[in-house]
Amino acid sequence: MSLLPHSGKRIVFTGGSGLAGSYAISKLLEYGHKILNVDLTPLSNPDVYTLKADLTDGAQAFNSLSCHFKLTEPFREPLQTPDAVIHFAGIPRNMLVPDNELFRVNTMSSYNVIESACKLGIKKIILASSVTTYGVTYAEGDVDYPSFPVDESVPVNPMDTYATSKVCMERVASSFARRFGVDIYVLRIGAVITPDRHEEAFRGYVNEPHHWKVHGWSYTDARDLGNMCHLCVEKDGLGFQIFNATNDEITNEHPTEEFLRMVCPETPFTRVMGKYEAPFTNRKMKEMLKFQEEYPWRNQSNFKN
Ligand SMILES: NC(=O)c1ccc[n+]([C@@H]2O[C@H](COP(=O)([O-])OP(=O)(O)OC[C@H]3O[C@@H](n4cnc5c(N)ncnc54)[C@H](O)[C@@H]3O)[C@@H](O)[C@H]2O)c1
Repeated sequence: MSLLPHSGKRIVFTGGSGLAGSYAISKLLEYGHKILNVDLTPLSNPDVYTLKADLTDGAQAFNSLSCHFKLTEPFREPLQTPDAVIHFAGIPRNMLVPDNELFRVNTMSSYNVIESACKLGIKKIILASSVTTYGVTYAEGDVDYPSFPVDESVPVNPMDTYATSKVCMERVASSFARRFGVDIYVLRIGAVITPDRHEEAFRGYVNEPHHWKVHGWSYTDARDLGNMCHLCVEKDGLGFQIFNATNDEITNEHPTEEFLRMVCPETPFTRVMGKYEAPFTNRKMKEMLKFQEEYPWRNQSNFKN
């Protein structure tokens, strides 16, 4: 249980039955938040009601954001406007469905959630975007990052459908934030590592670091992603913001600058990096949201072969 004070916000979480959402929801519950999960499939968490909805349908999105959080007979709580919506629902990578279907699902669901939230008067919207927007992960062939660290000022430049759908979501979000004056915080999430996949993932990252340019030698612990969501819920008044939502450190044992000079000799640095700072740096989130990681990878196991 976290030592941070509980604020008990009412949060609609979309896509909470999935890999990342289920861990993020558990963390948010620890902070005392009340959650309604909106997903196509149920979440096996007795503390959270799942409303089954297809968010590509605007009317279903609108109703999901203006809904009771629990089924009781009779309804005991009056309908209340949620304090925040956290939108994780969508297709989480290429080649799960055909590209046009991925684009339809991700862009329509995010448009519907953002529009409904704004028109219902929800003041805080948090969106799951991706570091794939920087354009290396699903590039056609080996592409370099333009500079290090890869921070939020580095232009997004994808060639694939998944990351392009996330760029579209970010653009819609900035437009609605400007029009409605609400806070919309975009999380550019790295490769999400859940506790059950931790050992296997870091065995690969540590022992074969040259393979992991596509992840930017960075990652996002699923439980720390819940901490990040909590900080976004708590911090008001920042308007439209984009945050790299990654953990603090590079995913192998080399000091960052030394390693990056070795594997990407042509790529310039725009500033001095911390000794083990993640190349997809989370410095902005640390400065603006006071993020402190709870699950640094080095503490969790021995990843040597
Ligand atoms: N997993 C990662 O490494 C990673 C990295 C960066 C960003 N993200 C983003 O984080 C979010 C969650 O990813 P995940 O790995 O948990 O994916 P996931 O596939 O495990 O979960 C996504 C959830 O969204 C639901 N969903 C899909 N379409 C829906 C619709 N039309 N209406 C309602 N619900 C719908 C699914 O049923 C599922 O439960 C996604 O937006 C993904 O793009 C994930």
